[in-house]
Amino acid sequence: MLDSLDRTISLIAPAKINLALHVTGLRDDGYHLLDSLVVFAAFGDRVSVKRAPVDSFDMSGPFGRKLPGDESNLVLRARDALRARFPKHTTPAVIHLEKHLPVASGIGGGSSDAAATLRALTALWGIEAEPAQLAKIGLTLGADVPMCLQGQPLFARGIGEDIERLATFPRLPMVLANNGVSISTPQVFAALERRDNPALPALPALSSIKDVCAYLTATDNHLFSATTKLIPAISETVGALHQTAARFVRMSGSGGTCFAIYDSDSEAQTAATALKQSKPDWFVVATNSVMEGADLGPHR
Ligand code: C5P
Repeated sequence: MLDSLDRTISLIAPAKINLALHVTGLRDDGYHLLDSLVVFAAFGDRVSVKRAPVDSFDMSGPFGRKLPGDESNLVLRARDALRARFPKHTTPAVIHLEKHLPVASGIGGGSSDAAATLRALTALWGIEAEPAQLAKIGLTLGADVPMCLQGQPLFARGIGEDIERLATFPRLPMVLANNGVSISTPQVFAALERRDNPALPALPALSSIKDVCAYLTATDNHLFSATTKLIPAISETVGALHQTAARFVRMSGSGGTCFAIYDSDSEAQTAATALKQSKPDWFVVATNSVMEGADLGPHR
């Protein structure tokens, strides 16, 4: 008994990487229609939840001081949205967020934290929610939250909520790099010059890293030129990754985190080590894409 009441549920909130992102239209409510090929990294934040006499929330980790700890935090917004939908099941909880992902950086940190909070509290509170119910709650918190609830390779359409999971996908050794600039996603979308670009090409069978990179060369991140117009320094991150043995380099989401894909984990590791040496102030991490959300926990 003590065990189940005392248990801590701890989940990784993985980095979300837009391998390709095409902006294909604009909805009447101002949200953009997208086509995006998305993977999740083995690296991310960590959300831990536990029953407690009263609610509390705190943060730690390298980027833990960069976020507000108040009700505007996506972790607390996720808790409150879940509680509002399932009021009978909820008890007070202590929530801890270990923040390893740079804030406002195009790899979905806040959305992934919200998704991990929904999953962790659902488990803690014994809520038997259908995945579609959680996705619906998630979408009220952010357009990327439904995809972050999946945590596996996927193709997203609509504003990001229309999700097709990919049954197979090569494991990609990667480096993520960010030069420390925070970027406002709404400002990037507002700075777009075109909103009626072609859809992503249909996905062929992708069975190797080479196949993925060949597909990506025929695609784009349509937010890149708008981001570089606002923050020219992003080009420096792309340039630095191109100096390594990368097979493919691109910015994720609205930036400024950029990713590089390598043929092997050791090449990714070597590139990350060299980049950390030359740019000690940057966020640089060697990681890989994951196939299953299950790879990410829970650890109890
Ligand atoms: O949904 P989320 O809060 O993450 O989005 C942040 C902002 O990014 C939105 O307020 C909107 O300005 C912009 N956005 C968009 N189209 C999308 C997703 C986000 O215009 N598909």
